[in-house]
Amino acid sequence: MIITEILAKYKPEKDQLLMILHEVQNTQADHSIHQEDITAIAQHLNLTTAQVVGVVNYYSMFHTEPRGKHIITVCKSPVCHIKEADAIIGHLEKALGIKMGETSADANFTLEHAECLGRCDEAPVMSINQDFYGHLNAQKIDEILAQFEEKKTTKGEPKKAKGLKGLFGKKLKNHARN
Ligand code: FES
Repeated sequence: MIITEILAKYKPEKDQLLMILHEVQNTQADHSIHQEDITAIAQHLNLTTAQVVGVVNYYSMFHTEPRGKHIITVCKSPVCHIKEADAIIGHLEKALGIKMGETSADANFTLEHAECLGRCDEAPVMSINQDFYGHLNAQKIDEILAQFEEKKTTKGEPKKAKGLKGLFGKKLKNHARN
């Protein structure tokens, strides 16, 4: 969905900003917010570009650097922590060949922490994009990842965010890959 189609769904009111940013980020193939999106959102809401950038930078849930096609978030909150979420993270890091906060070389997966995902009774829990997976163990993770590998296609490579370093330099550094 292109930005004009997204914006057409929202009233030009400032309190719509967070919802718009969420939808834009979730819609982009690389799960990030691009500079041209920022400009269009600012115009739609009668805000300055700097005001929108300020909100994007304030919330850690928003990203301006390209991320993977599939965003894996692992709950690190107390219940999942007690249920050995650290072991789940370790297994994911090994299986994907990346560390927490990184994106795989093929741009298929990004691995991130999350606060409570609201499914504590299924701990340990992770989400992949909009779907949740609970009662995790190493075998279950391998099976889930295998499903995504099968779905992988050669098209749909994430687009590179353009010219954002100047606006979001600090945030880009935080996500620098090794
Ligand atoms: S503590 Fe992990 S889902 Fe709630």
